Amino acid sequence: MTSALRFLMCAPHHYEVDYVINPWMEGNIHRSSLEAAQEQWQSLYQIIADRANVDLVKPQPGWPDMVFTANAGLILGNRVVLSRFLHPERQGEEPFFKEWFEAQGHQVFTLPPELPFEGAGDALLDREGRWLWAGYGFRTELDSHGLVAQWLNIEVLSLHLMDERFYHLDTCFCPLTGGYLLYYPPAFDAYSNRLIEMRVPPEKRIAIDEPDAINFACNAVNVDRIVIMNQASDELKARLAEAGFEVVETPLTEFLKAGGAAKCLTLRVTEPLHPEPAREGGLLARTVTMTGHLLDSGLVSRALDLIMEGGGSFQVLNFSLGEQRQSTSSAEIRVSAPDREVMDEIMAQLIDLGAVALPEDQQDARLVTITQAGVAPDDFYSSTIYPTEVRVRGQWVRVQGQRMDGVIVVSASEPVATCKLLRDLAVGDQVIVGYDGIRSVRSTKDRSRAAATATAEEFSFMGSGVSSERRVELIVEQVAWDLRRLRDQGGKVAVVAGPVVIHTGGGDHLGRLIREGYVQALLGGNAIAVHDIEQAMLGTSLGVDMKQGTSVRGGHRHHLRAINSIRRCGSIASAVEQGVLTRGVLYECVKNNVPFSLAGSIRDDGPLPDTKMDLIAAQADYARLIEGCDLILMLSTMLHAIGVGNMTPAGVKMVCVDINPAVVTKLADRGSLESIGVVTDVGLFLSLLVKQLDRLTQRHIVSKA
Ligand code: ARG
Repeated sequence: MTSALRFLMCAPHHYEVDYVINPWMEGNIHRSSLEAAQEQWQSLYQIIADRANVDLVKPQPGWPDMVFTANAGLILGNRVVLSRFLHPERQGEEPFFKEWFEAQGHQVFTLPPELPFEGAGDALLDREGRWLWAGYGFRTELDSHGLVAQWLNIEVLSLHLMDERFYHLDTCFCPLTGGYLLYYPPAFDAYSNRLIEMRVPPEKRIAIDEPDAINFACNAVNVDRIVIMNQASDELKARLAEAGFEVVETPLTEFLKAGGAAKCLTLRVTEPLHPEPAREGGLLARTVTMTGHLLDSGLVSRALDLIMEGGGSFQVLNFSLGEQRQSTSSAEIRVSAPDREVMDEIMAQLIDLGAVALPEDQQDARLVTITQAGVAPDDFYSSTIYPTEVRVRGQWVRVQGQRMDGVIVVSASEPVATCKLLRDLAVGDQVIVGYDGIRSVRSTKDRSRAAATATAEEFSFMGSGVSSERRVELIVEQVAWDLRRLRDQGGKVAVVAGPVVIHTGGGDHLGRLIREGYVQALLGGNAIAVHDIEQAMLGTSLGVDMKQGTSVRGGHRHHLRAINSIRRCGSIASAVEQGVLTRGVLYECVKNNVPFSLAGSIRDDGPLPDTKMDLIAAQADYARLIEGCDLILMLSTMLHAIGVGNMTPAGVKMVCVDINPAVVTKLADRGSLESIGVVTDVGLFLSLLVKQLDRLTQRHIVSKA
């Protein structure tokens, strides 16, 4: 005996296969030899007793499986959760184990009668004590995990068992010293495998094959660098040796007939508490609530996915389902995470989805004073496009100037919260850090509305194999209708456009939209204006004849000639005034008093006198122009569109048209329900749009007549 480790075992005086409660027992009733079993057990006992202390619990007649002490309960420190066996065949063992635990001075927790949990057979501590792996699916009910987590004050990672031969977690999963893990991946569902892979780095995972698995190689007792098991293939022994482990084999075939081996025959009594609780205030867990059309909108599943993907785990404590289509649901979710960083990241994302702390847990937002202009503390909360409220002195305050990628500043006197950009932070500003006291409002559409507007979907056409022309047409119809309505009601529409609009022949159509009052602001870069003006003055776009589609001789100078002409006039507006510029998109803007803003780029052609080369000034100009917008059309310009997307709060409808699906996805990714992505040629889109508006006008005239 070399360590202070203790195990509990139970001599097999009354052992035999008496009934069938797992597939291994099938065909083995009364087929085991008591003599052989006793011999095998004795050898195992000796191997362990040479290396650790072994306590014994008195075997009881009539309870043959009592030898499998792993199922007595789960111990951590001086607390123990007593097993609640699923099968009546084993329930009679409970009082004997309870008595033993109590005699040892353990505090015993008992589960409610109908909530099975089979102790250390289904719950294995990470050998560093960082968390508890718990199985469910056959013997243990998932709901028990929450109570175990609470009683033992430890993070529980639930693993779903899929193969009935591996009905207890310890038959296919064995955490080893040094963070290693011996396991049989096919015994788990995909989700659980992902969780395992997230917590155990690849070099520490020792995945075994079926032949070893059915010899119960995972059902091993680990004492420091020794791994005691029924049998291991040479390959497995070699792999374990590589990781610094020595395998000690001891045949346990008589117990395999009942579905158990080395680990099942022992219970580790001295499970150490995590040496220094790295967590402030014990377990790192948070409970949040979500309300709304949770199922229709897929919000809950998104929330649960992001918790898992972020490296945490969850438990749904309460879910009340809105039964009618129009009624909302609510969910209470307990989130746990291994460390603060992971928790912060998860909480920030959950807040975006509209999750809120329980009323009794709500705290004021944490404020930190800025000491260096333009620089925030590392844990600043970064704002999103969703309407947000922050709690200041017990009161929820709506954040003003909502936009993405900002920080929230709270004014000292009366609580006013505003989104500010990092660069605008001044010394003395109070900014919000962490995620306490922050909530965001997600409008979650119900099924009927979501279906009616077909939002947030991408529509693919041209270039994709799916013929979805009809779907593009549907969106065009909807956009046309919106444009009409907004124009009639004095709404505001902005267009963000790239030079592709001109290359693809969309210039005339966009010009018409401006002329006819459908557009209230135009945002772009230097290029759209240059190409538009080149086309207006010389009939080419970057030297390509727009009617013939062929390069024109000397055409490469055209855009420079266009720029030069405007520079001579001093500005686009004066070029229009002087009759130098007589048509095109920018011409229409000037003529119809539609403000435009051209944010400069690195490309070294020009720039036009109107182009703003100071990007901070250009951004401010953009922000001013999109204020109060109802609809933004983003036409084939990735960076300018993303810029605008970040400045715009949720609730503003955005239609993003691009031939490149990646651009469309990027913008639709902001996750706001109001964004529509259309993968198509932008010139074509504009021509369909203009045609559709004509149709609406004709219908209007006809119905009036
Ligand atoms: N016959 C026992 C049962 O089915 C075997 C228990 C094995 N124990 C274990 N921890 N896997 O319950």
